Amino acid sequence: MNNTSESIELSWIGKNKQNEKIDYDLVKQDEYCYGNCNNSNMLIHGDNLGVLEVLREDFKGKIKCIYIDPPYNSLIKFQHYSDKYTHSDWLNMMYQRLLILKELLVDEGYIFVQIDNRELHYLKIIMDEIFGRENYRNSIIVNKTYDAYTLSNSQEVFKTGYDTILLYSKKTSYPVPFIFKKKDCLKNIGVWKDFWCISSNENNYTLCGMNPENGNWRWNEEKALRSLENYKLLMKYRDDNNLQNEPFEEIFFGYIKNNKILKDEFTLIRVINDRVEYYIPPTENYILSDDWTDIIVQGSETNFEHEVSEELLNRIISNFTKPKDIVLDAFLGSATTAAVAQKHNRTWIGIEYGEHCYSTCVKRLNNVIKEQHLKNKNKNNLGYKFYELVKKEEK
Ligand SMILES: C[S@@+](CC[C@H](N)C(=O)[O-])C[C@H]1O[C@@H](n2cnc3c(N)ncnc32)[C@H](O)[C@@H]1O
Repeated sequence: MNNTSESIELSWIGKNKQNEKIDYDLVKQDEYCYGNCNNSNMLIHGDNLGVLEVLREDFKGKIKCIYIDPPYNSLIKFQHYSDKYTHSDWLNMMYQRLLILKELLVDEGYIFVQIDNRELHYLKIIMDEIFGRENYRNSIIVNKTYDAYTLSNSQEVFKTGYDTILLYSKKTSYPVPFIFKKKDCLKNIGVWKDFWCISSNENNYTLCGMNPENGNWRWNEEKALRSLENYKLLMKYRDDNNLQNEPFEEIFFGYIKNNKILKDEFTLIRVINDRVEYYIPPTENYILSDDWTDIIVQGSETNFEHEVSEELLNRIISNFTKPKDIVLDAFLGSATTAAVAQKHNRTWIGIEYGEHCYSTCVKRLNNVIKEQHLKNKNKNNLGYKFYELVKKEEK
């Protein structure tokens, strides 16, 4: 738990109840192991609490990236698993597992927990308690498709168009990486921003009759005067070519193309309503925020009802891990996390207690590995060991 002086905690019935101590073991099932098993990939069938307790012995402080997509407590019994809990039972279930998951993370590690609006706000509070509010790295939203066209007599609440992924790092010193996305420049718009800034540079001069009393201009005087001149040239080009009704970006890109000037060399400043502004042109590459609604969350590789898209796991695994890192999913479902980790040659551990662990997960992972086998020369990571969770006396 974090040691901040201001401790805020959620309480619920049974929060501190100790579970009966059961000793478990993981027993390798040779008939389900697949491919080259001389690596650390593990597919494990069993309740994740018992499995995590066993894994703690060998994997404490070793996991780089945890992604989980637990039951959302939607009070529905799905085809492959039940998602019906009391509110307290759901919180207990998550709390006990999150405590161990935190122990498994390396100091440079991250945990992603996907959820919808029903338990989101409670989950945030228990994750703050366990991982520390200072390690919260934002809530990512992903696009959830919903039926937007069928009208019923009334609706109690708005339909939910997104899922949320709470992201925490194990330590505050590990910020999130920049993720760049490409966009067609012309479909994007530029922005005009205040040329005055509070940073303490030397740019304190009079520009267009104005001199900032506190703070400074953003660029030096020579660049500022050139940028004012550039703006005049651009306006002349617009008027000479009758482009007054065209979007500003088209005029800008048309001018620099005709004059063979690079975008970054043609800086602009304008004065509008006694305010000096500089122009930030649209770029192809933009920095992704916590809005990941460019990703549709539903996957389509299997018939599992809550499969998430490989695109989501691709973004997480490729940006937050490197080849030797270990990725863990304790609510594996149809094995999306393991399949994507396998494709990226990461070591993975997947835990699932439903029978679909044998049918869906095994089938999907074996197919991924078969395909990699056909293409790949390096066959070291192409395989996994399968384990069953058993009580020690049952062995
Ligand atoms: C929402 S689904 C995960 C879907 C997954 N992200 C995918 O792409 O297929 C949640 C999964 O967690 C499993 N699960 C729920 N409670 C569990 C537990 N205590 N131990 C292991 N698995 C559990 C369910 O059987 C279900 O397959």
